Amino acid sequence: METIETLKNNFCEIYNQFPEVTASTSGRVEFLGNHIDYNGGIVLGVAIDKHIAVALSKRSDMQMCFTHPNTKEKVYVDLDNIFKLNPKYNWVNYCIGVVKFIQKAGYKIPCGFDYLDISDLPTGAGLSSSAAIELSMCKALKELFNLDMDTLKMVKISKQAENEFMGMPCGILDQGVCGFGENNDVVTIDCLKESFSSKTLPSGWKLWVFNTCVKHSLVAGDYARLRDNSMNASKILSGSGEVKLLRHFSLDDLNQSKELLSQGEYDCAKHSIDELQRVIKAKNCIEEENAVELGKLLSQSHASSRDLLRNSCIELDYFVEKLTALENVYGARLSGGGFGGSVLAMTNANFTEKDALHLAQEYEIQFGIKPQVFRVN
Ligand code: GLA
Repeated sequence: METIETLKNNFCEIYNQFPEVTASTSGRVEFLGNHIDYNGGIVLGVAIDKHIAVALSKRSDMQMCFTHPNTKEKVYVDLDNIFKLNPKYNWVNYCIGVVKFIQKAGYKIPCGFDYLDISDLPTGAGLSSSAAIELSMCKALKELFNLDMDTLKMVKISKQAENEFMGMPCGILDQGVCGFGENNDVVTIDCLKESFSSKTLPSGWKLWVFNTCVKHSLVAGDYARLRDNSMNASKILSGSGEVKLLRHFSLDDLNQSKELLSQGEYDCAKHSIDELQRVIKAKNCIEEENAVELGKLLSQSHASSRDLLRNSCIELDYFVEKLTALENVYGARLSGGGFGGSVLAMTNANFTEKDALHLAQEYEIQFGIKPQVFRVN
């Protein structure tokens, strides 16, 4: 892969030697199952052909040396004393968080290392660049130090780093798809059972990403609010018994307890219960190669996120509305946490680059922001 060669050469220019190991991970797009991973739901994601790769070499001391790929600024962190740095060094924090939780899981990292990365995956686009860097870091450290970690272990450590070190209370979708995804496969994650499976999409179905290039909130704050609403709802629905996740409840259960829930809690629970049913139907549509029905489910998911979770925004709605009015588009929806980020569209093969660029131009005229548009290969 050309980027790996570039990464190796860049590494050599900075550290005067080629790296001992490199590891690359794809970003992901959320196909269906919005905000239900942490409710024990079933979610579908697709790995995309945009990557983050990291290169490492051992050092003779206990320092980790991180070089920023653009500014070439160097940051040193002591392997025996890892704490979170100022957020402007989040590009380092993602990596040292992984190191910390690898150590905490009992694996030994006997010496420091030099680090460099390379990426063609946009950040802040809802395409899981943070999960991709975490997984790449795990894979590279595994190889460099011969650590006995399988993919599930690496997925869990990456999620733990994201939750406990970065303070983002996400579910397992991003790390799971980044860890288990292959290009063009839909990865199904049963978040309750923590089981993963993959299925290749029919070749005539095309996926496109429209990155609005806007972020309307401190994602962690709004994200936590939705998660809290869901957790409160599940506690109320569980009554005096053991607390069970929303996955275990039906619409009837919810409606029986309706007056005990705040509007926000009810809406989050209703979305979660409905969304799980959409995912189950979507899996059948994929088996039966029924693109038309699948597309409807994607668009229904968007409407539910918009109206019940309220995590859409005018820029996301704009793309979804324009896209779903086109005859070659099966469906479209916001993908990931929301409040900005990207829209996923599923189209037939007659939807062209020209169509996509035309929409991008219209969006730019409307909002004065240049979006990013690409087809997922
Ligand atoms: C973010 C989180 C995921 C998931 C999605 C919403 O991407 O990291 O765990 O909750 O939002 O579905």
